[in-house]
Amino acid sequence: GEPGWTTSADVVVVGSGIAGLTTALRLRQRVDRVLLVTKTVLSEGSTQWAQGGIAAALDPADSPQEHLHDTLVAGCGICDVPAVAALVHEGPARVRELVALGAEFDLDEEGELRLTREGGHHRDRIAHAGGDATGKEISRALIAALHAVQDDPGIEVIEHALVVDLLQDADARVCGVTLHVIGEGQIDGVGAALARAVVLATGGLGQVYSATTNPSVATGDGLAAALRAGAVLADVEFVQFHPTVLWLGEGSSGQQPLISEAVRGEGAFLVDRDGVRFMQGRHPLADLAPRDVVSRAIVDRMHETGEHHVFLDARHLGREFLEQRFPSIVARCRELGFDPAVDLLPVAPAQHYASGGVRTDLVGRASLDGLYACGEVSCTGVHGANRLASNSLLEGLVFAHRIADDISARLAAGELPAVDPAPAPAGTALLDGSARLRVQATMTAGAGAVRSAASLAEAADTLVELADAATSGEPGPDSWETTNLLHVGQVLTLAASLREETRGGHVRSDHPELVDPGWRGHTLLVRGADGT
Ligand code: SIN
Repeated sequence: GEPGWTTSADVVVVGSGIAGLTTALRLRQRVDRVLLVTKTVLSEGSTQWAQGGIAAALDPADSPQEHLHDTLVAGCGICDVPAVAALVHEGPARVRELVALGAEFDLDEEGELRLTREGGHHRDRIAHAGGDATGKEISRALIAALHAVQDDPGIEVIEHALVVDLLQDADARVCGVTLHVIGEGQIDGVGAALARAVVLATGGLGQVYSATTNPSVATGDGLAAALRAGAVLADVEFVQFHPTVLWLGEGSSGQQPLISEAVRGEGAFLVDRDGVRFMQGRHPLADLAPRDVVSRAIVDRMHETGEHHVFLDARHLGREFLEQRFPSIVARCRELGFDPAVDLLPVAPAQHYASGGVRTDLVGRASLDGLYACGEVSCTGVHGANRLASNSLLEGLVFAHRIADDISARLAAGELPAVDPAPAPAGTALLDGSARLRVQATMTAGAGAVRSAASLAEAADTLVELADAATSGEPGPDSWETTNLLHVGQVLTLAASLREETRGGHVRSDHPELVDPGWRGHTLLVRGADGT
């Protein structure tokens, strides 16, 4: 509907994970008015679910160069090297700033950050907090820092605000967002926030699948809004499936319990039902091979044994160590009837991370002027075809700084003038919320961990049928989220059908090989003016 209210700021930041909070906090040091909007509450989102940690070359024996190398190898040839270089060189300083801000990481006897290892890393370089509750602690520290400046009129927070669409002027420049707020305060319903720049930090799209490690809020809202506005998206087909998600039985859907890779980093290993350690001999790093390699080996073993899962064996680590090092995972397993000190844990891959997203340059600028993207919603080029473990919190942190610095410099230089939005184009046809399960089942069957031309075509057809039935939705958050899942599903399916090879997180049963190991092409997609 038409906006019922309007507010304005210099910059609107959408999302309150590590990317959004860091961007807002740093922007506020130099910009007069920052508005942070988030779909539910500040602490909700994927960041607080991050277990393993945050990767950075913090050990004197390690180097950014080695971190760069491991990132490029995991990314299977299509990382953008300058973006990775920024990530690994700036990462250590950004993590230390997070510590200075008050994030309490786990320390060793000398008071240095305790570092562990995860898949694809050749060094111990994963900093963690609360054992396996790294994201929760980072989120707590950033929100505390935000509250510390909350009396500051220069930073405004609106919770329960779903971003619907980007506002654009006659030249397609992004100049704000429309929001659907379920408010208790003065603003409620559909409104508009005008700004000189918009930063999308809306996180992932895991809810486009039936089973994911992502929380329920991860419905690809920012990606869908950017797509509708005509921004270039890149590499959306590269969806990462985490190898070790606790298997809760057939048909289990929604957010699933993650068993961090750090458990394997501390010595746990995978076995099949006969006790065979099938990762040995499959890759030099065995159980700590890059994530796509481990997930694919598990899927192969599941096919061979006809079972729905394999097992993670952590029993030899001992009760005391497991409880102290992985308190949240042990508690969650116990709630679900498993004791990692005694039981083999049934695990199978589930959707975990979107390696692609809104295409950006090295300072987070998207293809539309005035638009930035940060964190999981973005494709900065650091992840390539398969994100390296614990590089995601780091990406949010490093690129949030770059974005905040770029925006404040441009504002200071008089760039990014305030402009008026052009009249909104015809409204988007909305899906009813009841279509959500159908979208998820369609994407899981046709565009999941293993795809083919036939499965993708079938998924695309079903999504078109659903799209044709759209219009019936109530214009509320449930309809908007479901419509976003549809739009994300459509673009993901298209990208996956265009890439006729297997690389990283993108596995094609009909094209099982890399087409050309030297080919470094990205899949770039932009919506046509006619909506195609
Ligand atoms: C994990 O703890 O295994 C997740 C780490 C990541 O996704 O980077």
